[in-house]
Amino acid sequence: MSKADDVRKMVSESYSAAVKAALARRKAKQAKSAPSKSCCCGGAPKISEQSLAELAGYSREALAGLPPDAVTSSFGCGNPVALAAIREGDTVLDLGSGAGIDLLLAARLAGPSGRVIGVDMTPAMIERARANAEKAGLKNVEVRQGIIEDLPVESGTVDLVISNCVINLSPEKNRVFAELARVLKPGGRISISDICAEMMPDWAIQAGHLYSACISGAIPEAAYIQGLVEAGLEDVKVTDRLVYDAQQLSGLLGSVESGGCCGGSSALTPAQLERAVSELVGTIASLRFVGMKPVV
Ligand SMILES: C[S@@+](CC[C@H](N)C(=O)[O-])C[C@H]1O[C@@H](n2cnc3c(N)ncnc32)[C@H](O)[C@@H]1O
Repeated sequence: MSKADDVRKMVSESYSAAVKAALARRKAKQAKSAPSKSCCCGGAPKISEQSLAELAGYSREALAGLPPDAVTSSFGCGNPVALAAIREGDTVLDLGSGAGIDLLLAARLAGPSGRVIGVDMTPAMIERARANAEKAGLKNVEVRQGIIEDLPVESGTVDLVISNCVINLSPEKNRVFAELARVLKPGGRISISDICAEMMPDWAIQAGHLYSACISGAIPEAAYIQGLVEAGLEDVKVTDRLVYDAQQLSGLLGSVESGGCCGGSSALTPAQLERAVSELVGTIASLRFVGMKPVV
């Protein structure tokens, strides 16, 4: 196994545990035995799962019509579907589709003549996404198992690539950028929400508990744009930017037990959380990138 495979395995195990925990919490809540509906770890401010989804940019109206499991098992940091102008009939590909929140939102917009394909490497996530698509009655959703560095998708077949808080987790980001460019049709577009970090202290790069939490693998905005441009995309730019303040960062990192944004890490200790927030605040942002594959 290569070092990159080791990283993917660690990330997949984290998210497998996170989605199973999210499901168990929801079932416990339904049985009225859950102690709290908010996160509680590390002394972080309590943020409910719904508000985390709202912080990520989903409106209450959009969330209202979705199966509850798709919302409470959402681990995104933005809403790549909201302003992506999905057209009826589009083929949309979601990289790292998780439990399927964006698949479902995109599938409604693409309509019965369109199709939405999710790719994820974690079997527990794939199972949730398929179950959620079925619960939502959406027949135009397909979820494939695979890695985003080697997409199980035919070249030149996709109108829009979306992704929500996933590429930061890849140990081989340039392979991902090349793959998304390969599968797009000429004129096809991207709408990608992800975490970027302007600087990363060495201790944070080494901190395994911060990798699955979408911190340690995050790269600067300029490097992200350069990666997309070098893969052959044009008009690449950032359209939305949320630089997390201390409270938001604390809530997001401290929310791992409750499965909020980027909830793949095991819970941080109070000391780890305090250090991460005090040293990283102001440098971590959720961004939305757009761009296009040239028509020629
Ligand atoms: C932070 S979660 C985001 C899930 C989903 N996009 C959402 O917004 O809820 C990251 C997801 O990406 C998947 N993932 C991470 N790295 C991957 C890779 N290299 N290939 C395929 N899937 C990957 C994980 O299994 C997990 O489901």
